[in-house]
Order: sequence, then C-alpha cells, then structure tokens
Amino acid sequence: MSQPNETAFLEFILYRIGAKMARMRKQLQHGIDAILVELDRGLKTLSHRSDANAKRPGSTEADVNLSDERKQHTIGLMRINHTGEVCAQALYNGQAMMAKDEKTRAHLLEAASEEQDHLNWCQVRLDELGGKTSISNPLWYAHSFVLGAVAAKFGDPVSYGFVVETERQVESHLQEHIEDIGESDKRSLRILQQMQADEIRHGENAKQAGGIELPQTVKNIMTAMSKIMKFVSYRV
Ligand SMILES: [Fe+2]
Ligand SMILES: [Fe+2]
Repeated sequence: MSQPNETAFLEFILYRIGAKMARMRKQLQHGIDAILVELDRGLKTLSHRSDANAKRPGSTEADVNLSDERKQHTIGLMRINHTGEVCAQALYNGQAMMAKDEKTRAHLLEAASEEQDHLNWCQVRLDELGGKTSISNPLWYAHSFVLGAVAAKFGDPVSYGFVVETERQVESHLQEHIEDIGESDKRSLRILQQMQADEIRHGENAKQAGGIELPQTVKNIMTAMSKIMKFVSYRV
C-alpha cells in the first residue's frame, strides 16, 4: 500500500506530465496552423490571376506590334520579373513567419502586399503578350521562403539586410530590362519603371528599419542564385 507521501508525489508527477503534454499539443496545433497559413499564402501567390482591367502603370499607352523575336524576348524578360516578384512574396512571408517582433511581422506583411501589385502587373503584361508565367515558380517560392525564414532567425538587422540586398539586386536587373525594352514597348516599360522606383523605396525603408550590410560571400551567393533564376525563368 502506498504511503500518503508517495501518493502525493505520484499525483504531482502525473499532473506535471499532463501539463507538459497539454503544452506540447498546443505548440503542435500552433505549428500546424502556421504551416497551413503559409501553404495557403504560397498557393495563393502561385495561382493568383489578376484582373486585366485593374489600374496599372502603362495601361493607357498604346500597344505596339512587336516582331516575333522581340515579343519572345520581352516575354522572357517579363517572366523573369514575374518570378522575381514571386520570390519577393516568399521572402517577406518567410521573414514574417519567423519574425520575433509583432511590429516587424506587420511591417513585412505590409511590404509583401505592396509586392503583390508588381506581381499582378507582370502577370497581366505577360497575358497581353501571349506569354506564360514560369513553371519554375514553385521552386523559387520555396527557395526564397526558406531564405527569408533563416534570415529572420538571425534577427531583424540581418533580416532587413536581406531585403536591402534583394531590392538592390532587383533594382539593378530592372535597370538592364528598362534599357533593353526602351521606348519601343511603353506598356512594359512603364511597369518596369514604376517597379524600379518602388524597389528603391523598399530598399531604403529596410535600411532605415536597421538592415545591415551583408557579408560579400552572402551577396555573391544571392547573385549566383538570381542568375540561375533568370536563366531558367527567361526560358520556361
Ligand atoms: Fe517588387
Ligand atoms: Fe520590393
């Protein structure tokens, strides 16, 4: 027969185990909910179709008859930009998921919603040109989401540092596309010019929020990944 002290001890242990299991169940539920929310966000980004009549830069410019070769090239460039915006959504969502601070999370989700406009504009212009979005988008979404989540684990200065560097690289390749497309296709050009102005502002905002300069090696890896993304998205 158990002594009163032993019974109390066993009851205490059982109570602790029960409380621990309840906590673990709550954490698991929270984790599953977070994963489902992120899957939903990812699927929405990858399957989103924008209204062709929605207001956008360049919509009042007359469309021009591009040569077949020129049209295919422009489709390739706009597909790269569309994939770039898919990456921006994923990066911000990954960062927001792992952000420790609620204010930072809200700021990142707001930035992601601004990038949604860019995504819409590129998709609508691709439709107009008879092009398709890249089949590699799910891969790049996953890559950028993980990158954003890992960056956020290192704290806000590193996380914002990734935004600064990403926006700088995007702004730089937009400049190349702007020069390439030029005034011969103003409907595409106006979209890229507005995007470039917005990306510069996003980068400055992230710097003001405390984004640090990333190590050169990290920047080089980001550049290399961006080159692969551009190579693939231009083609398929
Ligand atoms: Fe953007
Ligand atoms: Fe941006």
